[in-house]
Amino acid sequence: MFKKLFMATAVLLLALPVVAAQARTIEIDGMDNLRFSEEVITVKPGETITIKLVNKSKIPAIAMSHNWVLMAADADVHAFDKAALKAGKDNGYLPKGMDDQVIAHTGMVGGGESDSVTFTAPKTPGDYEYICTFPGHFAAGMKGKLVVK
Ligand code: CU
Repeated sequence: MFKKLFMATAVLLLALPVVAAQARTIEIDGMDNLRFSEEVITVKPGETITIKLVNKSKIPAIAMSHNWVLMAADADVHAFDKAALKAGKDNGYLPKGMDDQVIAHTGMVGGGESDSVTFTAPKTPGDYEYICTFPGHFAAGMKGKLVVK
């Protein structure tokens, strides 16, 4: 019993600094003016990144929620956003069957909530677009780019 506990603790202590050293956390606010607080994020190819999306809005979630969706380099972002609208609230405004167009995404968060996603940045340098798929937000300009270089 004690030996198991000791081993578990030892493993945790060994693992923690590695995780802390690898994943850089970038905090992004989703704002009421339908913008992300960070519209350009620069990362290294293959870097492990945690995106923490925060929604500080006081507007009800039904009217002002946000997510953060990083699109693949060859994704059709406009088609994806249209499909997201059709997918609706019950699917978190994420279309099914289009996973190949998404590199990473957070959940949809309402005011006072946050959600994080950890992923490996693409190894291919370039610009990768990210958007919010809540109805109307991408069209209004809620987007940004992840620059891999
Ligand atoms: Cu939004």
